[in-house]
Parts: sequence; structure tokens; C-alpha cells
Amino acid sequence: MPDGNHPSGSASPVRSCRACGASLSAFMTFGRMPMANAFLTPEQMPHEYFFELQPACCERCGLFQLLEQPPAERIFHGEYPFFSSSSVRMQQHFGVLVADALARISRRPGALVVEIGCNDGTLLAHVQQAGYRTVGIEPSENVAAVARERGIEVVNAFFDEATAAVVAETYGRAQLVVATNVICHVATLHSVAAGLSRLVAPDGMVVIEEPYLGDMIAKTSYDQIYNEHVFMLSVRPMQRVCAEHGLTLTEAVPQSTHGGSMRYLLAPAGSATIGASVDRQLASERAQRLDDPRTYDAFRARCERSRSELRKLLSGLRADGKRIAGYAATSKSATVTNYCGLGPDDIDFIADSTPLKHGKLSPGMHIPIRSTDDFRRRPPDFAILFAWNHASEIFAKERAFTAGGGRWITYVPDVAITD
Ligand code: TMP
Ligand code: ZN
Repeated sequence: MPDGNHPSGSASPVRSCRACGASLSAFMTFGRMPMANAFLTPEQMPHEYFFELQPACCERCGLFQLLEQPPAERIFHGEYPFFSSSSVRMQQHFGVLVADALARISRRPGALVVEIGCNDGTLLAHVQQAGYRTVGIEPSENVAAVARERGIEVVNAFFDEATAAVVAETYGRAQLVVATNVICHVATLHSVAAGLSRLVAPDGMVVIEEPYLGDMIAKTSYDQIYNEHVFMLSVRPMQRVCAEHGLTLTEAVPQSTHGGSMRYLLAPAGSATIGASVDRQLASERAQRLDDPRTYDAFRARCERSRSELRKLLSGLRADGKRIAGYAATSKSATVTNYCGLGPDDIDFIADSTPLKHGKLSPGMHIPIRSTDDFRRRPPDFAILFAWNHASEIFAKERAFTAGGGRWITYVPDVAITD
């Protein structure tokens, strides 16, 4: 079994597209950045790892990617602090995804479902309940251990072609391969696509769901850009890369999760018909000019405007003596706080539901992380919603905050104090 220990990222910037090899140049820089999930103790501050966060969009194939990505084993390890189960809405979403996917495959006795990046097993638990054999592939040992406690078989490894070959050899080919919010994490895109192709049964299906470039551009949600998201995927490059490895894109279905995602259904070439959604989404990407460098220049200008508006709003509130907290120490918040230069003088603390983050400092800007109970015990005057993608879930959970006079600050799509 692979030991989960091989690198798939590089600290030195790439100069050519990871999909097509064309030369790349960044359209902006977010500056020196820490790794998004690298919460730290004061003793660890002298050793904090930084890199330059520079996105580029390939002018030939349209693949949006970072020039530099810290090595993967610095990110996905025994203390990876993100748990899929932390959002009730995502748990429900995965239940619906699984029901939809299982309805599309033929149910053979002993049929296997493999999930790439199974995290704590939130999605595969739904598959198990439906009576299928399941295997998860997950490099971060701590979240994998939670999945195992649920009785899910987990291979502790990074996913690539070599891992896929071992999994297919050990467990057989999968009727269904699922990957959500994970393909955009893996720099070796061709090896991933080759691995998917090796792993899926000839009459099987692959379902991939990832944050969508088109939504990020439309909403100026620049906080989707952080070290773990080496790609912000879109339909055109996904179709092309997968086709090179014998997988046909059969459907592309927009999703509202994670601030706007795209679900890609893929099947071994020749085994399935292509739905109308593929051409529809390709046309939508052309209409949005995702292939035009000017789109990214305009995006950069909107990021700069958003930054100056957020700084201005917070410094005005501070000058009025208001207490400001952050809500949810998301990966996205690392980009916002570091790009906008917001530290503990601007934001007293960030409340989060994940115990592993409590008592630590936020990456780069060193804002203390506290529990959401602390937030409720001593609510601030204003709370910046860093988990804006979970807004409805959080607003419902924290009604007492607004009832007590607290106000939410959001910055996607625009900087605003919500009513
Ligand atoms: P995400 O935006 O990458 O999904 O990260 C979610 C983070 O937000 C995770 O640290 C847990 C935290 N969170 C809360 O603290 N409260 C909540 O109600 C939700 C949904 C998430
Ligand atoms: Zn390219």
C-alpha cells in the first residue's frame, strides 16, 4: 500500500501550465502568504512557512492555477484541521449527491465505491448506508482515523496514478469514483486524471465536484485562492485533461455549495452519452470570457477595491470603539486577513467550531482562535463572516447574536454590513 508520503507540490514556482505546458505568467500577486490551515502556537511563530500567492490563468487551455504551491506533505498530515462533518448543510448535500450518483450506476453485487479525499468519511457513510462496498483514499491521518472509526476502509495515501493502480489491484475497479473539493488540491493533474481512468470500471462513472472559477470571478470571491487550491477549475480545461486520459465529460452541473461549485460527471470514452449541460456550460464560460486575460485584470482591480473597502470599514468601526471578531477560521480567511493586512489590532479573535483550532493563532496575522461558545458568551459588536459560503447555516445558528444587537460584516460579493 502506498505510504501517503510522496510529494505532489513544489515550493518553487512553475513557469508552464500543469495541463498543457504553455508558458504561464501571474496576473496578480496576493503577496507573502502563510499556508491556509497552518494554525500555530506562539512558539511556532519563528518557523512559520511563507510563500508567494500568485495566480495565473493559462492563455492556451484556460486552467486557472497558482505558480507556487507549498509541498503537499506540509498541508495534509496528522493534524489537518478541516473536518467535512463541520457543516450540517454539506452533510445533507453529500447525501443528495450520493443518491443521485448511485441512481446512475448499475448495481452489481459487491459493487465498489471509491472516494478520493474521503476526509472523516462524511460522504462515504451515505454510500455505506446504501449497501455498497466502500474504500476511501485520504493522506491526512487524523481525519482518516475518524473515517475508520465509522467502519470505513481507508487507504492512507495521496491520490495519483500509482495509488489508483494499487487500489484497483487490491479492491477491484470502482463502479463509482467520487472526489469532492479535492482535485483542485493536487498539483499533478495529469496523474490524477490517469488515476481516475485506471480506477473506474468500464461501465462505471466518476463524479467530481470542485469550487468553480466562473463563480469566483462573478463574485470576486478572491478568498477561494489559497495554497491548498492549486487550481480553480472550470469546464473547458477539465474536459480537455480528462479526455487525454480516456474519460469523457458527460455532464457539467452548477452547484451552490462552497460559494459556487461545478459537478463534473465523467465516463470511460464511448460508454455514455454526452448531455446538453456540457455545451451549455462551455457556452457560459465563453460568454463570461473566462479565456480573456482582460477578465483577470478586471478581477485584480476588484480585489484591490474590496481590500481597501474592507480596511476602511474596519478602521472606521475601530475608531468608534467597536469590538470586532471574525466568525469561522476558514482557509479563505487566511487570504483575506493576510492580503488586507488585518491582525489582532483589527479583529480581536476568530470564533470557530473546530476544537483543534482553539487556543491557536491564525496563520500569518496571528489572530487568536476561540470557540464559538466564547463568541456567544461575550459577543462582539460586529462579526466578519469568513465562512460566507455557510451563511444561512450560521445566521440561523447565531440568531442570538443579531437579536442582541450584533451585526454581520460580509465581503462577498461586496463589502457590506448586513441588515
Ligand atoms: P470551509 O469554509 O473551508 O468549509 O471551512 C469551514 C470552517 O468554518 C471550519 O473551520 C469550521 C467553521 N465553521 C464554524 O465554525 N461554524 C459553522 O457553523 C460552520 C458551518 C463552519
Ligand atoms: Zn494550459
